[in-house]
Amino acid sequence: ANIQWYPGHMAKAKRQMIEKMKQIDVVIELVDSRIPASSRNPLVEEISSGKPRLLVMNKIDMADRQATADWKDTFESEGVKVHLVNSQTGQGVSTLPDAVHHLTAERRRKLEDKGFRPHADRALILGIPNVGKSTLINRLAGKKIAKIGDRPGITKAQQWIKVGMTMELLDTPGILWPKFDDPRVGLCLAATGAIKEELLDFQEIALFLLKTMLQHYQSSLTNRYQIEKLPKLNGTEADQQTLIDLFDEIGRKRGCLMSGGFIDYDRVSEIIIRDYRSQKLGSLTLEWPQ
Ligand code: G4P
Repeated sequence: ANIQWYPGHMAKAKRQMIEKMKQIDVVIELVDSRIPASSRNPLVEEISSGKPRLLVMNKIDMADRQATADWKDTFESEGVKVHLVNSQTGQGVSTLPDAVHHLTAERRRKLEDKGFRPHADRALILGIPNVGKSTLINRLAGKKIAKIGDRPGITKAQQWIKVGMTMELLDTPGILWPKFDDPRVGLCLAATGAIKEELLDFQEIALFLLKTMLQHYQSSLTNRYQIEKLPKLNGTEADQQTLIDLFDEIGRKRGCLMSGGFIDYDRVSEIIIRDYRSQKLGSLTLEWPQ
């Protein structure tokens, strides 16, 4: 589900989330493991205003295992706690409340010191569209929660869902807008389907995927498109032509020809993007820690 975000929506969504935060003990920031940096919105930090935060990397089944491990190490070296899940199968989901509970230890101790009995950990899931917020909420709830329209500003009565013995989760996630001032980030978001591809040039997204595969996942190209001799990129302007030649080759192999024998670039692009999203090219991460 893609949302059209306007400055008014953003301001309103931000205000609502800051308001909600008063009821919250822990923020669960959800990202897509294929694009762990590009699927974040830096606003989470500001909205959370010092509350403990858990960065949950979802869709680990769609990402490169080694890259996911590297990202986890990098985030943790920056002091960010990370938890890995596949919300579709439930992998890693049952241990999430424990990870959350760990983060509230200090709050609970303070309450106990004052003679209060600490309540359950009240958590809110935050994230940009399509990272899997609804899927994770349903998993944690163990049932299907009625889906709200993916619209900022449209609210329904929110409810707390009890998850295990220690956690209570708001059944409505906080939806943040994707941030893509940086063109590379835009390509990552479009390639994974987090933003409408019409926002960017179709062929550009496919070329970005091709380039990433040539650099990091050559066997995906050889296996899927039977390319025998892969070209090398050398970081010069000639790379663009190299990529276009490769594009042509895939187009010919796939029969994406128009009259006159010209390659139908839109169709080739569609095939590559579809193959990537449906994991026919494998589980590929699109960005790495610096
Ligand atoms: P959102 O609330 O953050 O917008 O995301 P949502 O839960 O709607 O999930 C977006 C898409 O990602 C859904 O696919 C969902 O099934 C898929 N998804 C969520 N978590 C995972 C995961 O851990 N692994 C994989 N492989 N997929 C995940 P969809 O194509 O929109 O719908 P459908 O496939 O469920 O029909």
